[in-house]
Amino acid sequence: MNNFVFHTPTKVIFGKNTESEVGSLVKEQGCRKVLVHYGGQSARKSGLLDRVFTSLQEAGIAYTSLGGVVPNPRLSLVYEGIELCRKEHVDFILAVGGGSVIDSAKAIGYGMANDFDVWDLYDRKNTAKACLPIGCVLTIAAAGSEMSDSSVITKEEGGIKRGYNSPLCRCRFAVMNPELTYTLPAYQTACGAVDIMMHTMERYFVPDDTLELTDGMAEALIRTVMHNALILKGEPQNYKARAEIMWAGSLAHNSLMNCGGPNGDWASHQLEHELGGMFDVAHGAGLAAVWGSWARYVFHDKPERFAQFASRIFDIECHGNARETALLGIEAMEEFYRSIDMPTTIRELGVALTEEQIEELAAKCAFGGRTIGAFKTLNQEDMAAIYRNAR
Ligand code: NZQ
Ligand code: ZN
Repeated sequence: MNNFVFHTPTKVIFGKNTESEVGSLVKEQGCRKVLVHYGGQSARKSGLLDRVFTSLQEAGIAYTSLGGVVPNPRLSLVYEGIELCRKEHVDFILAVGGGSVIDSAKAIGYGMANDFDVWDLYDRKNTAKACLPIGCVLTIAAAGSEMSDSSVITKEEGGIKRGYNSPLCRCRFAVMNPELTYTLPAYQTACGAVDIMMHTMERYFVPDDTLELTDGMAEALIRTVMHNALILKGEPQNYKARAEIMWAGSLAHNSLMNCGGPNGDWASHQLEHELGGMFDVAHGAGLAAVWGSWARYVFHDKPERFAQFASRIFDIECHGNARETALLGIEAMEEFYRSIDMPTTIRELGVALTEEQIEELAAKCAFGGRTIGAFKTLNQEDMAAIYRNAR
């Protein structure tokens, strides 16, 4: 078992109508001016944005706003946000939206608090010394950015998607009302479910010993998300199912699921980030498309771990044959992805990869000569093979 530090400073305000508390939550932070950052249309159309503005006005908080964040949030809008925040003397950023909006807010926060080009963080050329404080009103259960130490940004030039991790960007508070997710299209709900499971599985499939307790929580979380994702297919306004998935999304990515074990594998995420950067696919769908290929490529190194997963998630037992059990578990997970209309190949993402594109994806993923993965360390050639097998 590894030593660990667990520090998750985000105050969570969970439940119905909690967005009405946002004004007083911001006031508690003692800031002078807020940037309300949001996405395309959903928060405006649902009336959420107006409710947030009203709550800020009632609390006597001055604010300015910037919308237009798109999935796979773009660096150009981050620069625009930094400029606006400087001009308006903003000292707190309130993200109203999903992972993309929160990540864009975190990047603006970094840009405001450090005296170098913010992209240098994502490009591994510099380290953040500070970040403007961030809070959020979450509208989709998926990325877990509301409690994570991570932010993922796409640079349009070259289609490069990169993440940067630092505890400095963790949200001060996260308002989570499951009702706000009722308006999600079925596809986004399913993408979110995959991402939440994958944040847990990336931490589960590791080469070293893990804590029994952490394993048990991870398995319960995955089963809970699967169960409730199926309910939401038929009942998108089922409050209990929305609530289960929303809370799972935060716990999957607030570092709880790797206590006592290594930090995780993260190869599927790195492989997906390149797909997102080049082809602008939805993150959860991209993960579902590559996971099976990754799993079949690596499971030989420790089939017992995959066999435990198969047995505890899907009740699959294969007479003590770990390899066979492992393979059946991988198939069962893909079958589940299909059952919620998620792709299990890159073709199903609408991307017909050429051999040149496979090499380009792998070269980008191996930037600076890096390897990825922990369950099995993967080099550029391995990455290309996994993309090829996922085609
Ligand atoms: O822009 P609007 O109109 O709001 O539409 C969004 C967007 O099109 C829509 N949506 C959100 N809430 C809605 C809604 N539509 C109707 N009703 C609502 N209540 O959903 C679409 C997707 O939103 P987005 O924020 O992109 O989703 P998600 O939370 O999945 O975030 C994905 C981004 O997060 C990154 C991903 O790579 C991707 O860029 N990740 C961030 C992580 C982190 N910071 O910790 C970890 C993850 O592994 C992930 O990499
Ligand atoms: Zn993810």
